[in-house]
Amino acid sequence: MPLPEGFLQELKDRNDMTEVASSYVNLNRRGRNMVGLCPFHGEKTPSFNIYPENGSFYCFGCGVGGDVITFIMKIENLDYIDAVKFLAQRAGMNMPEDSYDDSMAGLRKRIFEANREAARFFYKSLYSEYGRRGLDYFHRRALSDRTIRHFGLGYADPERSSLCNHLKSLGFKNSELISANLAFQTRNGGVADRFYDRVMFPIIDLRGNVIAFGGRIMGDGKPKYLNTSDTPVFKKSANLFSLNNAKNSGDRSLILCEGYMDVIAVNQAGFQNAVATLGTALTQEQALLMKRYADEVIICYDSDEAGQKATARAIGFLRNAGLNIKIITIPQGKDPDEFLRNKGSDAHDAFKNVIEGSGNDVEYRLNKLKAEYNLELADGRVGFLTEASKILATLDNSIEQDVYISRLCKELEVSRDAVRQQIQKYGKKRYYERRKENFKNLRQNLSGRNDKVNTDRYKKPRAATAEEGVIAYIIKNPDRLSYVEKELLPERFQTEFNRKLFEYFSEKIKGGGDPLASVSGDFTQEETAKIFQIVNSEHARLANERTAAENIKVINDEFFRQQLSDPASADMDSIAEQLKRMKESRQ
Ligand code: GTP
Ligand code: MN
Repeated sequence: MPLPEGFLQELKDRNDMTEVASSYVNLNRRGRNMVGLCPFHGEKTPSFNIYPENGSFYCFGCGVGGDVITFIMKIENLDYIDAVKFLAQRAGMNMPEDSYDDSMAGLRKRIFEANREAARFFYKSLYSEYGRRGLDYFHRRALSDRTIRHFGLGYADPERSSLCNHLKSLGFKNSELISANLAFQTRNGGVADRFYDRVMFPIIDLRGNVIAFGGRIMGDGKPKYLNTSDTPVFKKSANLFSLNNAKNSGDRSLILCEGYMDVIAVNQAGFQNAVATLGTALTQEQALLMKRYADEVIICYDSDEAGQKATARAIGFLRNAGLNIKIITIPQGKDPDEFLRNKGSDAHDAFKNVIEGSGNDVEYRLNKLKAEYNLELADGRVGFLTEASKILATLDNSIEQDVYISRLCKELEVSRDAVRQQIQKYGKKRYYERRKENFKNLRQNLSGRNDKVNTDRYKKPRAATAEEGVIAYIIKNPDRLSYVEKELLPERFQTEFNRKLFEYFSEKIKGGGDPLASVSGDFTQEETAKIFQIVNSEHARLANERTAAENIKVINDEFFRQQLSDPASADMDSIAEQLKRMKESRQ
């Protein structure tokens, strides 16, 4: 059963779009709207818009849009009903009685419960007789019992049914264990544990739910780590290990490590703000997630080649997200865990020194580059300067650029002008490349060829634009619906999606209330974005009686033109009406 419209209306009234968004995004007023850097994709110039007028948002950069419920779904990674609950709680409202039993929400709840029980079971095993191997392993790696408890580490024994038996005795169904990726289906229709003979690392989200596990083999076997695959509660590219701890550290800085063990060792040395990706390379989504809790990220990857490659990749995403970057180079040993273990009780101070000695990303890249050239030779210097200029050309901040130019010039004893010219050359090239890219996107958007929601749009751009104008008009002027309906039948809409919208909004308007109240629940996220794109377009803002009449005429004309071009399928009545219209417009 869908949620009552009155409830949704009140929910939206009491959760102001601007207010909710501004606790995640820095917003500035622009005319009647608010703008900011989009939290859903990386950008340097703001294209994320809030429309207080109808309580919605739309980003022109990535095409994401919707109402306050959509916003919470996306930014908190919740499904519809959980986002509604989140906002209800925020506004101190009760959920309506027998609000609908969403089976996906039900399954998610069961997975959270199964994961929590599994984490308890693994932790208890670690401290039991048969878990000795696991505990010895962690102790050998210098983890204290306090650290083990803090992270809820555990042990999965070599039997292939221990966890499944335990969870089944607590009432979990086979299908739930499989959905949670805690178990496999066996050939005879039963289930078997996915994790066995490993030490276990629970992965916990920002609300304290156990969402997944990483399991490490204790010997040399493969794979070294086994992680939970994506499930209804877990997307590895959108979460970070230990962000639940790090977000409470108090400073707006995060230490990004490569592995679970590194994060744990850094924590044990007294730095709460360490995080790691979950067995994959850093994604843009994770960089944006970090931006919500930090202004600065200290990259602390392994000093081997793979670690350096990963660093170069991470820098791009972090810069894009608007984060300041520092890079730690671990002086001895391969990774932070090893370094800290070697330092023993001096670990905290040693790591603090390393952090304080870390350079930013530009210094890091310039240093790496420098190592590739022989600066004693003229050729080497030219080569280095040329490549260095390319790096500096990517900096958007001209003061920052200037600082490095000064440094380079002094070091290599060359004139500022020469370096400047070189940078300008690459800067221009970059500017034109970006402009070309923007242009391409704009053209694609205008042609509607990449419109995944209204797939007919590119075939009938003129009619579709007029249809959207009419839809925006009735939403803004519900009292004019009867006029529009007299002039225009839904069958005459040329694009399927717009016809569906027209019928949907007509019905909502006739029911009274805000026609937009239930959009985010009645449509998919892509459709919702499209609807708010239409509602907030320039076209919609300018909609008035005159433009509405023009739009209606365009739709009718297109319809009749098509009927006449295909007389076999046309019906006599509409041909008669068209003839009458033509006669009228000639008078
Ligand atoms: P230790 O070797 O125990 O110190 O762990 P580590 O965290 O230092 O591991 P390593 O530096 O080798 O790898 C970094 C991270 O990559 C790990 O924490 C895992 O998240 C991931 N990883 C490593 N090996 C595997 C693997 O075999 N499979 C998957 N899926 N992920 C892995
Ligand atoms: Mn390691």
